[in-house]
Parts: sequence; C-alpha cells; structure tokens
Amino acid sequence: MTIYVTKNYDEMSKKGAEIIAEFLKVKPAANLGLATGGTPVGMYKELIEMNKKGEISFKEVSAYNLDEYYPIEKTNDQSYDYFMKDNLFNHVDININNTHIPNGMAANCEAEGKAYDELVRATGGVDIQVLGIGGNGHIGFNEPSDIFEPITHQVTLDERTIQDNARFFNSIDEVPTQAITMGIGTIMTAKSILLLASGSGKATILREMLLGKVDPRVPASILQFHKDVKVVLDEEAAAEL
Ligand code: GLP
Repeated sequence: MTIYVTKNYDEMSKKGAEIIAEFLKVKPAANLGLATGGTPVGMYKELIEMNKKGEISFKEVSAYNLDEYYPIEKTNDQSYDYFMKDNLFNHVDININNTHIPNGMAANCEAEGKAYDELVRATGGVDIQVLGIGGNGHIGFNEPSDIFEPITHQVTLDERTIQDNARFFNSIDEVPTQAITMGIGTIMTAKSILLLASGSGKATILREMLLGKVDPRVPASILQFHKDVKVVLDEEAAAEL
C-alpha cells in the first residue's frame, strides 16, 4: 500500500487525477471502477480538464460504478446515475453505452447483483477502482457488519450514512434507506485501488482502516489485504496516522 499525503482537497484531487491519467496512458481501454460522494468530484473536474486539453481520452474506457440508491429512477437528480453524468460522463469523450451503474429500479436485487458481478467479470474485471470512504468505514455502500459481503447486493443504509448523505438532499427524510452496492469481494477483485479521503471528519476512520485490525466492522480495513492500493489523503484526513 502506498499512502500519499497532500496539502488540501485540491492537491488530493490533482494527485488522484494524475494517477488515473498515468493509468489511461498505459491502458487506454481500461475498465475504471468509479465512485460517487463529495470526495472524487474535484478529481473528476481535473480529469475533465485533462480530457478537454487532449491529454487523456475516455473513448475506449469502460466504467463500472460501485453503487446506486434503491429504489431510485435514473432520472432522479439524486441518483448516482445522474451524479456520474453530471460530474463526469457528460463532459468527457466516454461512450455512454460503456458506462455501467447498478440498476436502482431492479425488480430483483439478487439477480441484479449477480448480473452486475458477471458483467464486471466478463469484461476482464476492474483495472483501477476509485473509492471514497464513509465516516463509518464503508466502501461503496458496504456498511459495518459481521461479515465482508462477497458480491453485489442490496443493503440497508446505516443511520450514520443517512445522516452524512442528508447534506445532498432537501431533508433527511428524502435520503433513501436502501442501496445496491458492489460487495467487498467484488471490490477486492479490482487489479488496483485508488482511495481518496479529505478533511478532519475522516481522520479517525482512516487510522482504524490503515492501522487497526482487519475487521468487517470497518469495511475499508480489508484493503490492507489488497496487493495494489494507493491512498491519497489531504493533511487533515492524515492527521491521526
Ligand atoms: C457515499 C458513497 C461512497 C462514498 C462515501 C463517502 O455514501 N456510497 O461511495 O465513498 O459515501 O462520501 P463522501 O465522499 O461524500 O464523504
């Protein structure tokens, strides 16, 4: 695992974008695993700029997102489908048909989860998976639990996650209580991982994730067992390391 500590959110975003850009230069047809949340937005902005300047291309890229609220329509501006279009896909030269997000309206979440994992596997697996981290240590929407969930599945969101995400909604009552997320097992099959975190609110959980024992109560701690992880933090997030 390599940990990079940058000065602030902007520097974290630049470093993250640099890592993705380097990757795309070597493998233009990469399978990118992508994340939502506030953390990667700055990195996506950097990537959009690089794409506009012709420094990188997404033409051959396939994208696989971690998760989606459930149930939610793609057209809902709170859906992660909408988020990805708004923050990245609509502004770069990616073929939208090559972008994939779990279906927030799936009639059968178990079947959707299996099909999603199969899709990821059939296309050769994720080359580089972008992750944020929840204040409770979740990755994707894998909440603290007694087990590490192996596959893409339906989850009930933690009270903490609902509170944390309420800032994106008009009121906490509007935050969906369920989601479909890649499992921890799915995430761990990615060939490499890029986890970003910023701000003092993430400092304690990063200490637990990086220096604590591997425990499904801190889902991100499983990344200690992954062979190729880059963690890009800002100084505030790294304060307790
Ligand atoms: C969200 C997403 C995660 C994200 C995390 C942190 O709920 N499901 O993929 O990493 O919570 O979000 P933020 O980056 O806004 O702190």
